[in-house]
Amino acid sequence: MKHSILLICLLGFLISCGNKSKTSEPPKSDDEIVVVNPPAGTVFVRQNIYDLAPDDPIVTGYQKAIKHMQSLPETDPTSWAYQSAIHGTNASGNQPGWNQCQHGSFFFISWHRMYLYYFERIIRKYSENPNWALPYWNYSTPNTRSIPAVFRDNTGDNPLYIPQRNASMNAGAELSSFTVSLACLEKIPFTGTPASLESFGGQTVPEPQHFFTGTGALENVPHNQVHVAIGGWMLNPNTAAQDPIFWLHHSNIDRLMNVWLNMDAGRQWTNNQTWLNNSFPFFDENGNEVTLTGAQILNSITQLNYRYDNDPVEMPTPSLAAADGSRETKSVMDGGEQDGKKILAQSADAETKFTHQPLSITLDMGDANSALLRKSTMEDPEDATGTYLTIEGLKFDKMPNQSIGIFINLPEGQEPDYNSVHFVDLITFFGIGHHVHHNEDGVNLTYKIDDNLAALSQAGIDISTVKVTFDLTNGVEKLEGFTEEPTNTTLDPEGSPRFRKVTIQVY
Ligand code: C2O
Repeated sequence: MKHSILLICLLGFLISCGNKSKTSEPPKSDDEIVVVNPPAGTVFVRQNIYDLAPDDPIVTGYQKAIKHMQSLPETDPTSWAYQSAIHGTNASGNQPGWNQCQHGSFFFISWHRMYLYYFERIIRKYSENPNWALPYWNYSTPNTRSIPAVFRDNTGDNPLYIPQRNASMNAGAELSSFTVSLACLEKIPFTGTPASLESFGGQTVPEPQHFFTGTGALENVPHNQVHVAIGGWMLNPNTAAQDPIFWLHHSNIDRLMNVWLNMDAGRQWTNNQTWLNNSFPFFDENGNEVTLTGAQILNSITQLNYRYDNDPVEMPTPSLAAADGSRETKSVMDGGEQDGKKILAQSADAETKFTHQPLSITLDMGDANSALLRKSTMEDPEDATGTYLTIEGLKFDKMPNQSIGIFINLPEGQEPDYNSVHFVDLITFFGIGHHVHHNEDGVNLTYKIDDNLAALSQAGIDISTVKVTFDLTNGVEKLEGFTEEPTNTTLDPEGSPRFRKVTIQVY
C-alpha cells in the first residue's frame, strides 16, 4: 500500500514534469520572482546570439522574462508594453517616460545605450538568472544575416516569434550586403559636418529631439535599414520595441559604438555640454524612476558593468572630442542657408514621386560650374568642404516600407548596383519618418558625393553632367516563394514618398 502511493506520487510528478515545457510555465507573480544579486563588480558579457543554442539559459531566460513582462499590467513600468512605450507608442495618454527615443541626432547612440541598460536589468531580474546579459545579433558577417532561428520558431508559444515581420524574413531570408554594410565605421567625427551622414553619431542639436533628420552614418546604415528590412512592428518607432528582435538589433548597434571607439585615434564621443549633461528618465528593475546622462555612459565596462564578448578586456577610457562647431548642420534646424554654399546645378522645382521603377534626373551645369565641381571633388576628400547632393522637400503620407537607394551617373539600362561606385547612400525613413511626416514643406537631406565623383572620374566616366537615379528597395535577399516587392509596379509606393527638387552644391 505504502509503495503504491509512493509510485502514484512519483508517476504524477513525472507526468507533470513531462507536460511542462520551459516556456509554458504560468508566469509568476512579482512576489514569486526570486531576486538573485550578482556578486558586486560583476561585468556582464553580452554574447553573439549565433553562438547560443536555443536552450541556452540566456535564450530561455529571455523567453521567460518576456512572458512575465507581458503578464504584468501595462501601467507597470517594467511591463513589456510600458518598456516599449518608452521608445514610442501609438497609445494615448502619455505616461512618465513614454515616447522618449532619440532619432536623427547625436543623442541616438547615447539614448539607446541607456534604454538597453535598464531593459537588461529588468530581463535579468525576471529571468531569475543573475548572469543574464542581452545577446546581440551581428548581421554583418556572412551566414548570420537571417533572423536568428529561435526568433523564427513559431511552434509552441515562443514569445520570440511574432508574425508581423516581413514574411520572407520570418522564413529565413537574408539581409542584403548593403543593408548590413559597416561603411559607417569609416566616418570619423562623432558629430558635425554639413551632411550628418559624414559623421558617425549624428547632428549636434541644441536639445533632445524625439525625431529629427540629422541622422548619423551608424543610425542610417545598418540601423534604420535593418528596421526597414525586418518590417512589421520594426518598421515604425512606435511599435518597434515590441518585437523581441529589436533589443538584439540594438545590442549590436551599441556594440558597434564600442568597435568604433576602439578603432584608430580620432574616434571620440563629443564634449558638447548638453549631450553630456542632459538627463533622460528610465525605470529600473524595481519600477523606480532613474535617470542617466551622456557623461555616465561613455565606458560600458567601467560605468555600466557590461562588455561585449569581442570587446578588448579593458576599454580605453574614451576621451571627448571638441564639438565640431564651425561646420555643424545648422541649416535644417533654423531653415537658414549653410555659409559658403554655392549651387552648381538644380532640377526644376516640382513635386516628383518616387516610383517602383528607377527614376532618373539629369542635372546639367555650365562649363564654369563643372570645372568648380571637378576642383572641389579633387581637393582634400576628407575635408568637410566638398561636393554635396541635396534632396529638397522630401515628404510622404505614411511611413514608406522601403528605402530609397541614391545613385549617380548610372549608365543607361544598367541595374542599380549597391556595391558599385555609382551608389551614394540610402534614404531610410525609420527615425526621420515622423519628423518628415509632420513637416508640411517636407525636409531636405544632404549627401556628400566627392568619393563617388572621384571614383567615377577615375573610371573614365564623365562627371560634367550629374544624373541622379533613385531605386526603391527593402534590402532583403529574394527568397523563393516570397514576393514582398509589389507585383503591380504602376501603383504608388506605400506612403507615396516624393520630393520637390535635387541640387548639387559645393561648400
Ligand atoms: Cu529607437 Cu532602432 O530605434
